[in-house]
Amino acid sequence: MNAVLEQLSKFGVVPVVVLNDVKDAEPLAKALCQGGLPCAEVTFRTDAAEESIRIMTEKYPEMLVGAGTVLTTEQVDRAVAAGAKFIVSPGFDPEIVDYCIEKGITVTPGCVTPSEVAQGVKRGLKVLKFFPAEQFGGVATIKAMTAAYVGIKIMPTGGINPKNVREYLACDKIFACGGSWMVKGDMIKAGEFDKIEAMTKEAVEIVKEVRG
Ligand code: 3PG
Repeated sequence: MNAVLEQLSKFGVVPVVVLNDVKDAEPLAKALCQGGLPCAEVTFRTDAAEESIRIMTEKYPEMLVGAGTVLTTEQVDRAVAAGAKFIVSPGFDPEIVDYCIEKGITVTPGCVTPSEVAQGVKRGLKVLKFFPAEQFGGVATIKAMTAAYVGIKIMPTGGINPKNVREYLACDKIFACGGSWMVKGDMIKAGEFDKIEAMTKEAVEIVKEVRG
């Protein structure tokens, strides 16, 4: 496992962020860092994503910032040029995965079936995203699926929250959990960065409680 993945695994929780306005990037990064979770998956669902990654990584160089919802190789290039250290895609797109592997970029593609996991295994990937986790059977599906693929670790996202995250973190097949619960769009829009910091601290405490 490379250094980026090792660091994500240590965090245990990866905040999945949708930023509509680049002005929120800096205060959000500050809240995450002060909350003890200097990392983020900034999703390419908005026009603000690329510049937000740039701002976060420039102002907070200690942060590990990746790009999520990456749907094209062109977005891979833009994300990496802006400072993204890892690429996340919701599904398994062979073109994106192969492009990242070729360029030595850390990539965690979404896989929810054994056939998709097999595609990742074939390419030597060790960490795969499982999205949307709750809708596809959560921890039970992850355990059943990875039983056949020894050595594969899963990063579930989708429907994870403070109530169910312990169950995910307790599963040894789970590498880290992605989630937006501590960085919800309404909190960002309302400028509730203190609340984001407090919820981030809570997430860090949960990781400590479950993983020690
Ligand atoms: C993702 O892209 O990983 C998800 O949208 C995050 O899911 P959540 O909003 O349910 O945490």
